[in-house]
Amino acid sequence: VDSGRGNEDNLDWRDKGLPPGCTVALADVGRQGWNVLAGETGTPVAVLRDSALTSNLATMRGFCEEHGVALAPHAKTHMSPQLVARQLAAGAWGLTAAVPHQVAALLEFGVRRVLVANEITDQGALSWLAQRLHNDPDLDVLWYVDSVAGVRLAADAMTALRDRTRSAGLLLEVGHANGRTGVRTPRVALEVARAVAESPRLSLVGVAGYEGTIAHDRTPETRQGVADFLAFVHDTFAALDEADLLVAGERVVTAGGSVSFDQVTEALTPLRDRGAVVVLRSGCYLTHDNGFYEQVSPDVDPEWRWDEFDAAIEVWGRVLSRPEPELALLNLGRRDVSFDMGLPTPLWTAREGQRRPATGLSVTNLADQHAWLAVPKAHDLAVGDLVGVGVSHPCTTFDKWRLLMLVNDGYDVVGGLRTYF
Ligand SMILES: Cc1ncc(COP(=O)(O)O)c(C=O)c1O
Repeated sequence: VDSGRGNEDNLDWRDKGLPPGCTVALADVGRQGWNVLAGETGTPVAVLRDSALTSNLATMRGFCEEHGVALAPHAKTHMSPQLVARQLAAGAWGLTAAVPHQVAALLEFGVRRVLVANEITDQGALSWLAQRLHNDPDLDVLWYVDSVAGVRLAADAMTALRDRTRSAGLLLEVGHANGRTGVRTPRVALEVARAVAESPRLSLVGVAGYEGTIAHDRTPETRQGVADFLAFVHDTFAALDEADLLVAGERVVTAGGSVSFDQVTEALTPLRDRGAVVVLRSGCYLTHDNGFYEQVSPDVDPEWRWDEFDAAIEVWGRVLSRPEPELALLNLGRRDVSFDMGLPTPLWTAREGQRRPATGLSVTNLADQHAWLAVPKAHDLAVGDLVGVGVSHPCTTFDKWRLLMLVNDGYDVVGGLRTYF
């Protein structure tokens, strides 16, 4: 994988987070001697804590190795070639994508196995993909089908190629009531699988599902709902195997975001006896967060035996104003931090390079470019101070940044990361 993708880019006024007026090659960002706490980057600025990334990668690797499951991290979380490279170096089986553009980006990064955790019904994208598969016999791209119509689109794209030498691997997606895509009943599952079997250019590699549309907490009711859904995934795989509708050799069964991958592992590993590789698709585990994932990741369970996930992503801004005794305004807002799954949490303040815990501070509202910070009257937070916030839901913070700063524990900038959303 080309982890240096973008290294040749010259960063400049287009890249939020750089010191104003600065032009620098991405590869040289870590050599500028900048320190975030000393205010030597621009603000707002998004940072990734290197030690937390390293620890989270090792934790997830440990979990997967111990349970004999594979990981295809969802790349939509960050869409960063540097992070993709680190995930592959940490043993990832492949990478997951949601839409054709993400597949194209991953292929550009040099990824050789892409799991598209979605249907592809765009004919242009399917023809492009069929051609890529045809040109590159060892490239592995799997995608989902949940309808006979979707199977036909895939078959048409594959058979349109002049030299029909290879088949495309598909996964049958099962879903749940009030959920998203995925067949809802065993009858439709068989119908779609039979449609795949009718095309010599398609092969059914396995079964997929996503429990994350059920699991927004870890209450017993939610866990039961997830268990019921995973039983459907399991039973569908077994039924297709018994009906001889799955490829011979290695099969795939996949589910698992960053909330319930423990439960997914438990429910689906018995399918290894039917030749299945169990592939988790967690994305948010990599940076974790200070909100949603902090509350619902498997590491909150007393039985969790690995290191806890550590929040790696922070956004730092400046106090613009303290117009009322209990109010401060920051120069970061909805353009800079997630707000779809909760407001950011103030973690630190900094002045003259010294970091202090942001005790007593909270974000109460966000506008495009501002955060409202509730401040105890006696707090000495001053105009010009830095405030670092943790986010709730990393995916929707990443997509607001083309450049993120990689920092060590002292907040020295040791590198720059590109994203391609
Ligand atoms: C289909 C699918 N798989 C995997 C994931 C990754 O889950 P998470 O973001 O909790 O890591 C997502 C996230 O939305 C998803 O939609």
